[in-house]
Amino acid sequence: MPEREDAGSAASLHMVDLIRKMRDGGGLDEREIGFIVEGAANESIPIEQLSAWLMAAWMNGLSIAETRALAIAMRDSGEKLDSSHLGRPAVDKHSTGGVGDKTSFLVAPLAAACGVAVPMISGRALGHTGGTLDKLDSIPGFRSALSLPEFETVVKQCGVAIVSQTPTLVPADRVLYALRDRTGTVEDPGLICASILSKKLAAGLRGLVLDVKTGSGAFLRKREDAEFLAALMVATAESAGTHTVALMTDMSQPLGRTAGNWIEIAECVELLQGEAGGSNADLRELSLQLAGWMIHLGGKTETAEQGYEAAAAALANGSGLRVFKEMVRAQGGDVTVFEDLQSSHRPGARLELKAWKTGYVSQMDTMELGWAVQRLGAGRLRAGEPVDPHAGVEFHARRGVHVEAGQPFATLFASDETMLAEPSERIKRAVTISDEAPEEVPLVSLIFTRENAERYLRDAVR
Ligand code: URA
Repeated sequence: MPEREDAGSAASLHMVDLIRKMRDGGGLDEREIGFIVEGAANESIPIEQLSAWLMAAWMNGLSIAETRALAIAMRDSGEKLDSSHLGRPAVDKHSTGGVGDKTSFLVAPLAAACGVAVPMISGRALGHTGGTLDKLDSIPGFRSALSLPEFETVVKQCGVAIVSQTPTLVPADRVLYALRDRTGTVEDPGLICASILSKKLAAGLRGLVLDVKTGSGAFLRKREDAEFLAALMVATAESAGTHTVALMTDMSQPLGRTAGNWIEIAECVELLQGEAGGSNADLRELSLQLAGWMIHLGGKTETAEQGYEAAAAALANGSGLRVFKEMVRAQGGDVTVFEDLQSSHRPGARLELKAWKTGYVSQMDTMELGWAVQRLGAGRLRAGEPVDPHAGVEFHARRGVHVEAGQPFATLFASDETMLAEPSERIKRAVTISDEAPEEVPLVSLIFTRENAERYLRDAVR
């Protein structure tokens, strides 16, 4: 891994020159990118100059070398987790986000039960997608805001911890991401890749598994954009020394049966308790595949298939559940709520939405379903807004199934009756029921490893 340039050599650079260079399509080198990142982190570069640079980067796009330099400089902009203290190889999973995407609560304890360490730094709900930390907050007493030493202690003790970004980890991303949000510069593959990877690489990972969503509920709606981002992240993380794969996975319907906060935790605990995974077989299968790769990249099995078998055994023998409970307890959570999952679910109001016609559930606008969940109170429009731990939707029918008019289609949960009508209408608008059964969509459509990611990028750039 290249070392950062010293402050002395960076001192001769001027931000306005770097803005002009970026604007005019001239590439920036590692030293120049390091200068910008350092200036963002220590706030020595004014916001207007950072904003202008971000827009120039967005307009011209970052090259693969610039993306790599940005990811590494951001990774190094603050404190890092020293994973050599953990006593086991550190691996993690990152998802580009979706509706009902709750695999973290399964893959993290399952992989930890198979001998790897999972230091997971997660985020909160925003827009149409839910947030891992909001879901965990629905467990009474659970604390996600741990200091770096507390984070390390829990990972050492349980093999896994799921925490929020600390103020000292990757400070450059905090500044740049907030600015991107305000300057219309979020949607650039290089900026997204560097932002996501900087936070993951700061945890000192040996392996990283990326779950890149495609389909109607995905952050990037166009398949080719999602593929490019997946390949870019794999190649970038690999070049920074972390074994990485990306699975392109289906988000043309919510993952599993539930979308919300507590109800997602409860769904995962049921699976960890040994429920076979009927209507949520997709959630179980994807979690085992992701955990299988984590275990393999952590060096615990020779192949990802063997990793899958190990994860399935940890699910079947209850060790995944044991690790999950240990983590919740170590982070202050009350594990007695898992004893009776139904009575721990306390929504203020509920509504059963019945199928409004007979036919096949042929299409779901999953992003719109995500907005319905948000409107029920489970998500937020702006950072900092409170969420309702018991709001959400339980779906009783999946894409491809045949439904009869009048049979239960979904149950909606909110804090009061007045919040139910609009999300219910949204769900009806978002779901198409028709005479024809839809084509099946594969759960995992493509896997990028270093080799095919680099080939993909060479072809895409040519
Ligand atoms: N998530 C991140 O952390 N960064 C981005 O740029 C986009 C999504």
